[in-house]
Amino acid sequence: MKVILVVAAVAVVVVFVVAGDCTWSQDINSRSWDESVICPEPYTLIGNTTCLYISQWGVVRNWSAAQTYCSVYEGELAVINDCALLGEVWTLTQHVLNLTGNFWVGGSDAEAEDSWVWERTVKNVPMGVPFWLPGHPDGDTDENKLMIADNGYFTDANETQEHFFICQDFSTLGSITGCNAPYILIGSSCFYIPPWEVLRNWQDAQEYCIEGLLGELAVISDCDTLGQVWNWIHYDLNMTGSFWVGGSDSAMEGTWVWERVWQRVPMGVPYWLHGQPDGDNAENKLIIAKNGFFDDENESQENYFICQYFLD
Ligand SMILES: *[C@@H]1O[C@H](CO)[C@@H](O)[C@H](O)[C@H]1NC(C)=O
Ligand SMILES: *[C@@H]1O[C@H](CO)[C@@H](O)[C@H](O)[C@H]1NC(C)=O
Ligand SMILES: *[C@@H]1O[C@H](CO)[C@@H](O)[C@H](O)[C@H]1NC(C)=O
Ligand SMILES: *[C@@H]1O[C@H](CO)[C@@H](O)[C@H](O)[C@H]1NC(C)=O
Ligand SMILES: *[C@@H]1O[C@H](CO)[C@@H](O)[C@H](O)[C@H]1NC(C)=O
Ligand SMILES: *[C@@H]1O[C@H](CO)[C@@H](O)[C@H](O)[C@H]1NC(C)=O
Repeated sequence: MKVILVVAAVAVVVVFVVAGDCTWSQDINSRSWDESVICPEPYTLIGNTTCLYISQWGVVRNWSAAQTYCSVYEGELAVINDCALLGEVWTLTQHVLNLTGNFWVGGSDAEAEDSWVWERTVKNVPMGVPFWLPGHPDGDTDENKLMIADNGYFTDANETQEHFFICQDFSTLGSITGCNAPYILIGSSCFYIPPWEVLRNWQDAQEYCIEGLLGELAVISDCDTLGQVWNWIHYDLNMTGSFWVGGSDSAMEGTWVWERVWQRVPMGVPYWLHGQPDGDNAENKLIIAKNGFFDDENESQENYFICQYFLD
């Protein structure tokens, strides 16, 4: 008995020391996309981060009954927010499940006609190409719910119709993204913004990301990610201000590069507003300004900042 207690005590101390010192860093380094993927039954991982369940052959429901059906599996009608995922769903229904038909998903314009939102997140459903065919949505007030039609594209439909449907499990979203806390997945990258009271000049911000967080100031080199980061800051974090990212033209005035990868920062529309950058030699570091666009800023200014954990 005594021996067991001693062993237990040693184990506790070891766990404590490990937890205090380096478990987190080991954990974050050992994470990969594949290992971290577990969708609860009956969901299947589609794309890299989404747990979906597609109703079986013969199981059709109207929109609200489909929503109820999903809730039995602790999910909701799916949020299909990126076009690669829409493609994966098409491949799955056509080529794997051999299911042809219409599939309800979680979008609606019932609250405000023509203003399509995901009911779960109250965020906008993407419109136009490549989600919708030209001329759609076309149903006015008779068709207020969203489905993926038998041609694979979004269509508005009358909620009383009975169709197949796609449920999504949201409970595992954090753990399957491959981003360890405090990072969260935005697009296909892991980002973190420290609390609102943490403001730093550019160099101190870089060190803050590296030392405590094993990351670096963010590299945002595609415009979809810029948009998603902006939505996250604005609507999820409800923060207003300027945010340092990892670009600079310190090495050569006018030549903007991401310091981590030494690749060019994209210039012009839709990243920068006309007239920017404008600071010449006094403003050599990159910031996402209050208006959401890139801007050059003097590195000694204290600002919010965006850290990124690089998966490669
Ligand atoms: C999954 O992740 C890989 C690597 O990041 C990416 O190339 C691919 O487009 C992603 N697939 C989907 C459906 O998002
Ligand atoms: C797919 O389903 C159709 C009927 O819906 C059937 O005729 C066809 O043989 C099926 N194809 C495969 C590969 O199972
Ligand atoms: C659905 O269609 C029916 C019959 O066409 C119509 O009476 C009803 O108002 C429609 N539902 C909605 C929400 O528009
Ligand atoms: C949807 O289906 C359920 C159960 O089949 C039914 O009770 C409900 O009235 C239907 N709702 C609509 C809007 O058609
Ligand atoms: C967002 O922040 C502002 C003040 O900065 C506050 O007035 C507002 O209530 C906040 N909104 C939400 C949804 O938290
Ligand atoms: C930043 O601004 C300060 C004060 O205006 C100036 O002295 C300094 O040279 C600027 N930094 C750079 C890198 O130009």
